[in-house]
Amino acid sequence: MKSLVLGIETSCDDSSVAIVDDNGLVQFCTSQNQDADHRVYGGVVPEIASRSHTEHLLPMVDLALSTTGLKMSDIRAIASTNRPGLVGSLMVGVVTGKSLALIHDLPWIGVNHIHAHIMSAFLSEPEIKIPLQPQFPFLSFVVSGGHTHLFLVKSETEIQIIGRTVDDAAGEALDKFGKLVGLGFPGGAKVDAMAKGGRAGAYAFPRPMSTEKNLKMSFSGLKTSALNMITNIERRDLPTVLPDLCASYQEAVVDILVDKLAFAVKQTDVKNVSIVGGVSANSRLRSRAQEWADTNGVGLFIPPIRFSTDNAAMVAYTGNCLFKANRVSDFAEGPSPASYPSDFS
Ligand code: KG4
Ligand code: ZN
Repeated sequence: MKSLVLGIETSCDDSSVAIVDDNGLVQFCTSQNQDADHRVYGGVVPEIASRSHTEHLLPMVDLALSTTGLKMSDIRAIASTNRPGLVGSLMVGVVTGKSLALIHDLPWIGVNHIHAHIMSAFLSEPEIKIPLQPQFPFLSFVVSGGHTHLFLVKSETEIQIIGRTVDDAAGEALDKFGKLVGLGFPGGAKVDAMAKGGRAGAYAFPRPMSTEKNLKMSFSGLKTSALNMITNIERRDLPTVLPDLCASYQEAVVDILVDKLAFAVKQTDVKNVSIVGGVSANSRLRSRAQEWADTNGVGLFIPPIRFSTDNAAMVAYTGNCLFKANRVSDFAEGPSPASYPSDFS
């Protein structure tokens, strides 16, 4: 019998439960997105997020077991994301995970959400043949709503941070722009869709820090330049120019990301890379990164979109890796808004 871990993800506004084996084979994964609950407020409301996790989590655990025909006695450990994230949201997943572990006499493992995104490159599903997986060491670019971080991944549990944004995350830059041009929240996927009908060179947006020979990134200036640009566009003209605006803005974000990834490969001479996190669902980033990888002899791994955005399969698999490395958590460990200093050193 494979080692099966039940994973719980509640770091922000997605509730998710999954069961994954120690090869990264996903037996079951269900996710409940809360976008509709938060959209009216233009951003995630922590109180609403926590309440929603509380409502959805246990029925999702029941669904995982009834769909797979597995029993709790088939599960080796319970893993919950316990950092970084919204503490109220994390608390729901942590308390649910620990309670299940205590009732069923199982170990509990607190998982770092960024670590989980990094491990999403190893997930596969029964109906899909096992995808090519990155070989260690590889570079992992975590590009999400909260993070734009570059890591050197030496093994499943030895990960070193080598670069990061100095201000906003790439997803945040896309979400803020989406809100600014009236596409609502979250804007990333909507900007992506709108950009498909536009010209990437129509508007000149800056690419701050992208040509600097370091692994620092910056996205906050982009939003300010978009605000200035939009102020000069007549409101009634906005729908007509929106595809060009989205394509040009998205291109600036993608340029910064691909340039920094290329510099990271040059600097480390590591030629296997993965791009993970919600923004790796972006169609332009996927195609531009693939083009760059093909012309530079780099092995590129990007998970399928359902594993790019927040999900519990990546948490369950990371829990499985930590379990194998004897790194189960103490029940006294709680949720934390930030990563631990020891996580990526
Ligand atoms: O990893 P994720 O689901 O949650 C965090 O950990 O933050 O990432 C969410 C981010 C949001 O900023 C969302 O707008 C962005 O991923 N996103 C996209 C796309 N789909 C989701 N950004 C660009 N293009 C997409 N297709
Ligand atoms: Zn995430």
